[in-house]
Amino acid sequence: MSSKPLVVRTIKGLRQFVQAVRKNGQTVGLVPTMGALHHGHLSLITEISKHVDVPIVSIFVNPTQFGEGEDFEIYPRDEQSDLQKLVGTGTALVFAPHASEMYPAGDATTVSVSGISDRFEGAERPGHFDGVATIVSKLLLQCLPDAAIFGEKDFQQLAVIRQFVRDLAIPVSIVGGPIIREADGLAASSRNAYLSKRGRAVAGQLNVLLKALAADVRGGNDISRAEKTASDALIDAGFEAVDYVAVVDPATLVPLTALNGIARVLAVARIDGVRLLDNMAIEAP
Ligand code: PAJ
Repeated sequence: MSSKPLVVRTIKGLRQFVQAVRKNGQTVGLVPTMGALHHGHLSLITEISKHVDVPIVSIFVNPTQFGEGEDFEIYPRDEQSDLQKLVGTGTALVFAPHASEMYPAGDATTVSVSGISDRFEGAERPGHFDGVATIVSKLLLQCLPDAAIFGEKDFQQLAVIRQFVRDLAIPVSIVGGPIIREADGLAASSRNAYLSKRGRAVAGQLNVLLKALAADVRGGNDISRAEKTASDALIDAGFEAVDYVAVVDPATLVPLTALNGIARVLAVARIDGVRLLDNMAIEAP
């Protein structure tokens, strides 16, 4: 019977573990999370295990990526339940530091990525990507894994991470993991737990309507008209608001007016005050 993974809370303990793995001739993969683990997170462990010998999961609810009035205080935290979910996944170690280990007194450095973080989530949540880029830089430099994996569910986050890893020449290979969905198409997310029964029923329509938009655009319909149709349909379906629905270049996230090659549609709609993110590839026919 496999047991719960070992938990370390210090950078020193993490580095000692990684050194021992390397001494053994094995490679290391990092799966950064904020806990409240679900099957989307667990899929990243399966995926990274195709690239490395030893997966490490980090669990840290990073205060600097939450804005004023967001859910930092109420974000679900249940370490024992997370550790239980990791049993049998092949996770050797969980790095679960205290805030003072990640942001020691006097900490004064922020990693800020311009351009790719300006639109969409960057515009809706000012400062969010500075928080993400800073904590992920710290985690990568503390662990120095061979590879690290991030979900395509947070498509812009993955693009931001690829950008600073390249710019700072951090010697790690960044892997993107496919979006894991519930039976009705809703992308698995820790925040889905905030939804009411009615909200949860409406939430599945986000993916349904994005698929319709993708088919529309692939069929040659005008992109801005298709975006407007999808946005109106989301409101009709019961969403409270649509933060954005945009067809973009998957590498630069610049909005597209015509489809030539592969595109990506990014969307955020709100229900029960919860921001639901989704995205999908659109391939030219
Ligand atoms: P968190 O929301 O816990 O997500 C951890 C990782 O799981 C991210 O890479 C995210 O994209 C991925 N993920 C979440 N839901 C997924 C799904 N349905 N399918 C596939 N992957 C999914 O994202 C963060 O934490 C933080 O910003 C973090 C990168 C850990 C930095 O604090």
